[in-house]
Amino acid sequence: MKLDLLKENVEKEIKEATTAEELEKIRIKYLGRKGELTKILHSIGDLPKGERPAIGKAANRLNAKLSGLIFGKKRSFEESKTLQWKDLSLPGRKPYIGTLHPLSILYQETIDIFIEMGFSIVLGPQIETEYYNFTALNTPADHPARDLQDTFYLKDGRLLRTQTSPVQIRTLEKHTPPIRVISPGRCYRVDTFDPLHSPAFMQIEGLWVDRNVSMADLFGTLKIFARKIFGEDRKIEFLPSYFPFTEPSADLWIQCSLCGGKGCSVCKNKGRIETLGCGMVHPNILKNMGYPEFTGFAFGIGLERIAMIKYNINDMRLFYQNDLQFLSQFNESKL
Ligand code: DAH
Repeated sequence: MKLDLLKENVEKEIKEATTAEELEKIRIKYLGRKGELTKILHSIGDLPKGERPAIGKAANRLNAKLSGLIFGKKRSFEESKTLQWKDLSLPGRKPYIGTLHPLSILYQETIDIFIEMGFSIVLGPQIETEYYNFTALNTPADHPARDLQDTFYLKDGRLLRTQTSPVQIRTLEKHTPPIRVISPGRCYRVDTFDPLHSPAFMQIEGLWVDRNVSMADLFGTLKIFARKIFGEDRKIEFLPSYFPFTEPSADLWIQCSLCGGKGCSVCKNKGRIETLGCGMVHPNILKNMGYPEFTGFAFGIGLERIAMIKYNINDMRLFYQNDLQFLSQFNESKL
C-alpha cells in the first residue's frame, strides 16, 4: 500500500539524517505544504466513499507519527549542540532569596526588646468604638483633641482606631495591676500620604501600671529601647507634649539620620524627628477603671518613623510600594 511504502521511506531517511537541516528538508518533502503525505491527505476526498475513513485515519496517524519523529530528532541535535558549550565547572546560579519587609524586621526587634524587659503582648481590634478610642481615654465628645485626629468613621458609628491606646482601656478592664503590656497593630487616620505620614500606619502601644511607677521609669524604659534600636551615639530628647490621656506628657524625638541633625526636608529643618508619644497615665483613667491607688506610664511608638531613622529612608511611602529593589536592601545578608 502507498502509505506503508511512504512510511518505510521516510523513517529510513529520518534515521539516516545527520543534521537538523537534513531533517527540515525531509519534513518539507513529506509533510510540507506540497509534501507527499500532505498531498495524500488532501486527496482523500477523491477516494471512493467506503475507503475514505480508513485511509484518512491511517494518513493522519502517519502524519502525527512522522512529525513527532522529526521534531524529536531535531531537538536532540539542538541539545547536543548546546551541550558542547556547557561549562560544567561554572558555579551554580544563586537562587533569589526573599527577605522580610523592613517594618517586619523592626517590628520583631522592637517586640523582642520589650519582652526582654518583662512586657507581654496583647492585641486589640482595628475597628473600635468611640468609647474605647476617645471617651474612655479622657477625650470626651467636645474635647478639642478629637479634632486633632481626623478619623475614619464607619456607617454604624464605629471607627477605625486612630491609635493603639484603646487597648490600654481594654487591658485595664480585663486585668488587675500590676500590668506591663505592649500592643502592636495598625492604626488609621485621614492623612494624605507625605514623606512622614500615611493613612494607615503601625503603632506599638505600651502600658505599665503598678504601685509607684514614675516618670523616671518611663524615661528609663524608652531610653533602653532607643539605645538598643539606634546605638549609643544617637541624640535622643524628651520634649513636653500634650495628650488627653497622660499627665504629664512627652514626645521622644530622635536625631534625624538623613541630615545628622543639621536639618533637611525630611525633618523639616528640625534636625530631629518625633517618633513616639508618652506620659504618665492620667489619674482620671486609673480612677475610672477602678485603680485610683496605682500609677502608670504609657507610650505609643510610630513604627514607620523609627524605621525611617534606623534605615535612613527619606520617604515613608517606600514601605508600602512593594518595590523589590528597595526591599532587597533588607536582605539579612546585606543588613
Ligand atoms: N496615641 C498617641 C498618638 O497616636 C500616642 C501616645 C501618646 C500613646 C501618649 C500613649 C501615650 O500611650 O501615653 O498620637
